[in-house]
Amino acid sequence: MPRIITRSAVALVCVLALAGVGWIGKLWYDSRLPGTYNVMDFGTMDYGGGSIPAGVDGSSGHQGHGVGTSVADLRGPQSEHPDAEFTLRAREARIRLASGRSVDALTFNGRSPGPELRVRRGDLVQVTLANEDIESGVTIHWHGVDVPNAEDGVAGVTQDAVLPGKSYVYRFRASQQGTFWYHTHQISAREVRRGLFGAFVIEPPVGILGGELDLAIVAHTFDGVPTINGSDLLERRAVAQATPVRLRLVNTDNAPRRFALTGTPFRVAALDGTELARTLPLRNVSVDVPAGGRADLVFEMPATPVRLSADNWAAGLALSADGKATPPASMPAESLDPLKYGLPAPLPFAASSQFDRRFELRIDKKPGFLDGRPGMQWTLNGKIYPHVPVFHVERGDLVRVTIANDGNGTHPMHLHGHHMLVLSRNGVDAAGPWWVDTLDVDEGEEYVVGFRAENPGVWMYHCHNLRHAAQGLTMHVAYAGVTTPFNIGDAHHNLPE
Ligand code: C2O
Ligand code: CU
Repeated sequence: MPRIITRSAVALVCVLALAGVGWIGKLWYDSRLPGTYNVMDFGTMDYGGGSIPAGVDGSSGHQGHGVGTSVADLRGPQSEHPDAEFTLRAREARIRLASGRSVDALTFNGRSPGPELRVRRGDLVQVTLANEDIESGVTIHWHGVDVPNAEDGVAGVTQDAVLPGKSYVYRFRASQQGTFWYHTHQISAREVRRGLFGAFVIEPPVGILGGELDLAIVAHTFDGVPTINGSDLLERRAVAQATPVRLRLVNTDNAPRRFALTGTPFRVAALDGTELARTLPLRNVSVDVPAGGRADLVFEMPATPVRLSADNWAAGLALSADGKATPPASMPAESLDPLKYGLPAPLPFAASSQFDRRFELRIDKKPGFLDGRPGMQWTLNGKIYPHVPVFHVERGDLVRVTIANDGNGTHPMHLHGHHMLVLSRNGVDAAGPWWVDTLDVDEGEEYVVGFRAENPGVWMYHCHNLRHAAQGLTMHVAYAGVTTPFNIGDAHHNLPE
């Protein structure tokens, strides 16, 4: 080979290598997060084919802070007297499980789960959060309750984290009815795992009728030990025959949980705090609850014992006339598919409706940098956090979102402040009304959901496998004209994930 060509080839290879290094260097550089930033600073604005506000170039998220409505002003009723009032004190505590094992936990009022809060539909709820000694700060998010934005409890988006010695008051009207839960939304991947959560039940306006058994069943894994309502053993309870029973299952873990109710036919009366319109009795099927999701099982207590199990856990619940029976655990092979369970009923909108905005949310992974760290990173529409999409909506919009899992694993996608109506999965329509706030999207699945944008604010839309969220599987739905004065990082060390 002539020497001149060899030299050119070597030079070309060198230039390409340098360009490659430069390109990777730029990816690294662009991925680094500043110590303090506003969630609206980085996102890729997505208008879903709807109108674009005047004066916006449509490409980036710089909406100009300080114009329009501040998240901080979107509060619940301030002056009226509350109908239900609670104080939750966050502190570290050593808790003892039923087996005698103890766990260093983060607690509300010295317990985990924290106290079960029960209110009635229509109540004005006031909860004072006091942080006694949680160094990293605490907030309370009302998972599934569509509260005004400033009551949503997201550190760095809707408020500052509450530091030790400080407090914060949440006020909202409980206008839904059903099973919800509350949890910290500051460093939630760690703080929720360690115990800062509890059940939140909104009863009917008249309350629970005497003679009914109505129980929240909170499943959580502490240090690898599975528990139900803080017990790692089978709990037994005496229930008279013919008692109407409602078990409100809450999954606070990062993985989906499979529950089985054996010894009786039952119905799934509600999912994610929304009563199903009409339902058929079930027997010999298990019920999968997504991470963060809820399911209410109802039945009439038979003469013989009934058992609630979760996966192959030792923790569980045995109900019997004398409270002493130990019914065998068993896990039906078939599990309920909510897409096919409901019966047709009137809906506020349908797949055929005219949507004001149509978004896609495609979840996958690719090699890249997350805050300067190399690795395989989660992507939303091909983008790595914080360059993920921001769905821009206007109040009143009917919004359609196609959520697709193009990668591996299960992603329980949770939208704050709204309930989503499931329209279809992989092209198959839902049989009846199926409303969710937390939807498990499995490998290869593509859901179409819809919601009405009628709760202004900046709302998180994220995976409720909280580890995934902390690894960047998180984004926002932002209303036109709404900005947040709070920042991630900052003197308050706000870190919602
Ligand atoms: Cu249960 Cu963003 O949370
Ligand atoms: Cu996930």
